[in-house]
Amino acid sequence: MATDNGTPNIRYFTEANSEEQVIARITHPKGERFREIMISLIGHLHALIKDTELTQEEWDNAIDFLTRTGQKCDASRQEYILLSDTLGVSMLVDAINHRKHGGATENTVLGPFYVADAPIREMGANINLDGKGLPLFMSGKVIDIHGNPIAGALIDTWMTNEDGFYDVQQPAIQPKFNLRGRFYTKENGAYWFRGARPRYYPLPTDGPVGEMLLAMGRHPYRPAHIHFIVNAPGYIPVTTHVFMRGDIYLESDAVFGVKESLIIDFIEKDDPGEAARLGVANPFCTANFDFVLQKEGDGSSGLFLPTDSST
Ligand code: BEZ
Ligand code: FE
Repeated sequence: MATDNGTPNIRYFTEANSEEQVIARITHPKGERFREIMISLIGHLHALIKDTELTQEEWDNAIDFLTRTGQKCDASRQEYILLSDTLGVSMLVDAINHRKHGGATENTVLGPFYVADAPIREMGANINLDGKGLPLFMSGKVIDIHGNPIAGALIDTWMTNEDGFYDVQQPAIQPKFNLRGRFYTKENGAYWFRGARPRYYPLPTDGPVGEMLLAMGRHPYRPAHIHFIVNAPGYIPVTTHVFMRGDIYLESDAVFGVKESLIIDFIEKDDPGEAARLGVANPFCTANFDFVLQKEGDGSSGLFLPTDSST
C-alpha cells in the first residue's frame, strides 16, 4: 500500500486501504464463521461508501434512519423485520435455507402477525368468529413427496378479515383468535375448515420503513393470502402462504413473498345446495391446496444443491 507521495503506509487508515485496516483488527474472532461474515460485511459496507462517495449528510441520515427503526420496535412492532422483508432480505435468507426438492411445498415469509398456540379446532370448524366477509371453504391434504397421505399433521393457519386486518391489529373490533386455528389432518391426510375470503392489505407505514418505501416510489401492499405452518413428526416443517389468483398485487408484493406454486383459485360460488352441503352461507368461495412435506434427512435437511449435469 502506498501513500500519495509513493511511500508505503500500512500502519494508518487511508481511503484506499480502509477495509484492509478494519479487517486486520479481527485478531481473535469468536469463530471462523463469525470472521467470514464480518470480513464480508466490512468489505461490502466500505465498497458501498466508496462506490457512492457517500456524503456526511447522507451517512448522518442513514444513522438517524437506523436509530428511528430501532426506536419504533416494541413487543408488538418489529420495524427491523419489516426493513428486512421490504428489502427482500427475509425472502433471500429463506430461499437459501429452504431449497426444496421433490415437489415439496415452497416456503415464504412468516410475517409479524403469527400468534403461537392458536386454539386446536375440530376438523371443519368455522374460524370466522364474527361471521363477516364472504364465507370461505378451504380444503386439501398433507402428503409426502411420493403422494402418500400424512395423518396427524398439524396445520396452523391465520388470515385477514375482508377489510385486510388480522385480529391482533384490531383487538377492540375482532374476537380474539378470529380467523386463526390449528387442525390435525385425518387418516387420509385431509383437512378442511371454514373461514372468510382474505383481502390484500398494506404493511404498517407509520414508521421509517414506510418513509423508505415512499421515497423509493414503492407501494406497501401484500396480495391477499392465507398463512400456514404445517408440521408432522419426521418431516421438515413448512412456513408458507397460499395467494389468491387474480389479486392486483401478486406481481408487486411489498415483501417479495409470492411464488408461482403458491397461487391458487378462490372460486366464487352462488349455489345454495353446495353451500348447505359444505355448511357455509350462500354465496361463498372455495379454495383447495395440498401441502407436500419432505422427510427429514430425505435428500437434505432443506438444503438441496441441484446436481450439475455437466459432471
Ligand atoms: C404478513 O403476511 O403477515 C406480513 C409479512 C411480512 C411483513 C408484514 C406482514
Ligand atoms: Fe399476512
